[in-house]
Amino acid sequence: MTNLPANRMQKPAAKPRPIAPPAEWTVAESAELYGIRSWGAGYFDINQNGDVAVTVPTGNGPAGGQRVSVSLMELIRGMKHRGLQMPALLRLDNLLEAQIALLNESFGRAMKTLGYQARYHGVFPIKVNQQCAVIEEIARAGGRYGHGLECGSKAELLIALAYLQPGDGHIICNGYKDEEFIDLALQSLRLGFKCFFVLETPTELPIILEASRRLGVRPMLGVRVKLAAEVEGHWNESSGDRSIFGLTTAQIVELVDALREHQLLDCLQLLHYHLGSQIPNIRDIRGGVLEACRYYVSLRQEGAAMGYLDLGGGLGVDYDGSQTNSNHSKNYSLDEYCTDVIETIMTALDRTGVEHPVLISESGRATVAYSSILLFNILDVTSYEPQGSAPVVPEDEHELVRNLREVLEGISIKTAKECYNDAMFYRQEIRDLFRRGQIRLRSLSLAENIFLHIVWGILAVLQKAKRVPAGFDDLEESLADIYYGNFSVFQSLPDVWAIEQVFPIIPVHRHAEQPTRRAILADITCDSDGKVDRFIESGGLRRSLPVHPFVEGEPYYFGVFLVGAYQETLGDLHNLMGDTNVASVRIHADGGFEFAREMSGDSIADVLSYVEYQPQRLLEQLRRTAELAVRNERITLAQRQALLESFSASLRGYTYYED
Ligand SMILES: Cc1ncc(COP(=O)(O)O)c(C=O)c1O
Repeated sequence: MTNLPANRMQKPAAKPRPIAPPAEWTVAESAELYGIRSWGAGYFDINQNGDVAVTVPTGNGPAGGQRVSVSLMELIRGMKHRGLQMPALLRLDNLLEAQIALLNESFGRAMKTLGYQARYHGVFPIKVNQQCAVIEEIARAGGRYGHGLECGSKAELLIALAYLQPGDGHIICNGYKDEEFIDLALQSLRLGFKCFFVLETPTELPIILEASRRLGVRPMLGVRVKLAAEVEGHWNESSGDRSIFGLTTAQIVELVDALREHQLLDCLQLLHYHLGSQIPNIRDIRGGVLEACRYYVSLRQEGAAMGYLDLGGGLGVDYDGSQTNSNHSKNYSLDEYCTDVIETIMTALDRTGVEHPVLISESGRATVAYSSILLFNILDVTSYEPQGSAPVVPEDEHELVRNLREVLEGISIKTAKECYNDAMFYRQEIRDLFRRGQIRLRSLSLAENIFLHIVWGILAVLQKAKRVPAGFDDLEESLADIYYGNFSVFQSLPDVWAIEQVFPIIPVHRHAEQPTRRAILADITCDSDGKVDRFIESGGLRRSLPVHPFVEGEPYYFGVFLVGAYQETLGDLHNLMGDTNVASVRIHADGGFEFAREMSGDSIADVLSYVEYQPQRLLEQLRRTAELAVRNERITLAQRQALLESFSASLRGYTYYED
């Protein structure tokens, strides 16, 4: 059902529709409804006050020391006191540290248990979240584990060289590399950086050979192999024969011959592959490792030094909490991932006598997803509720409107389907009459309201029915409210729009209260795609979300969770909505917290200058228009001054809705 007439709600809903019969509501029921214990990974839950709380380990290591909880409402209040308005991105430094520790310690545990004879050293792919505060924290927290950085461009290499120390973790250079990139990376080897070039295409080799000869530095080389293994999920095009990066078997053989000819075969130490991000099925991960091991052993047998196996990224995040191989989930735990990878390598290598390689993985998403939450407030609601009680239809009203009104009288479980079909028919006929100018606006408005009474009446009887007849699956969803959130999908959640990514989205507070309405979320970009209508509910996906009635004048906050990977830099300036405010918070063992960083989002002048306007020139142009208006006596001098001050204040203002 589409095109329902909307009633803009300026007041709290008079009679909210119950999702279930009204009852005592507990925070445990809310936790179950929103699935927070499934996708929250032990970091997010609902506290006794009905607020979402984050629980973090505060000592060393993932389980290290104490775990403390802080309510997100407390953090929102903290932001407000510091002048950081909604929408805002909240970064939890403790969760970056915890995820780095978890990854390293899970691999360490699996290696110890299985008797693996080399070490694990992760690298964080900078592209997944390039923000300075994130890289700084990863470099700091990763220091203990020799966790390095992966770079896919010259700019990212500069970041890696600045944030790592020579004795620290590895630097893995993927992507296209020009002479400047190669010169810099080679020079970093002189300082003692462990900086690998991963050959992605055959054309890179001559540039590396020439630079290495010119600078007198022997490179640390790796090669990216194009595996035949294909994976499920959104990013399956990164895998298989048609993947865009990596060398084919023929190109690898040529590479080995060329390196041998230049007496550089001992520089080839690393085999890299990347099957794609967010791999949902552990079977695909095993398949990839097994095939890569065959290449690794073969290169060793060809005389290459080897010593490193780099698994690339792909470790998934359970966004929907289902623990399945759906695109938004993964059917394995981190421990299972580590054990399966180690076991597969050992099985493949031990029978050949080749020593175990140092294991590198480039997990980005799994490292940073949990650490960021987008927080926003609701500004307004459109509801699709009928107005008043059953409408009275005047005797002289059009026959079709009177027919529609009659449908309302006969609704029962038995007649629901027939009533629905009749209502749809009459409404369409009446809309056609209006289009042809044969009925008045008031008659159409009356008919639309009768129609809403009918569909809500049908919904009420269906809710009491034991079995819902076919054809009504989306009735409830199509009657959902629209809650307008102070955010931009395109700026803050680009993957929701681009690839229909599902993120957990829930109210941040009021969980001791039953959410009695259903809604989709619209952003403030006034773009028809600027909406979120895929949500996690009771372990499944729904097109609308249970929400609390919006009360005018009272803040109602939502959080979009697990948004730390890819979203910040992929976002765009649709409708010139800029970066949101950002707060990085560190939670201490005593439950106190500090705002380690506060960054104001873009001002309007900032975003205008991104698209090549000169804010000062815009002001100057308006000043001239206003001056002319004063001369023509259209406005007074005081009005001119007030207008220019408003314009200047707007240039300094936030691009989002300000209270
Ligand atoms: C070469 C390479 N390594 C690592 C990653 C990070 O992958 P993920 O975020 O799935 O861990 C990517 C991103 O797709 C990549 O292209």
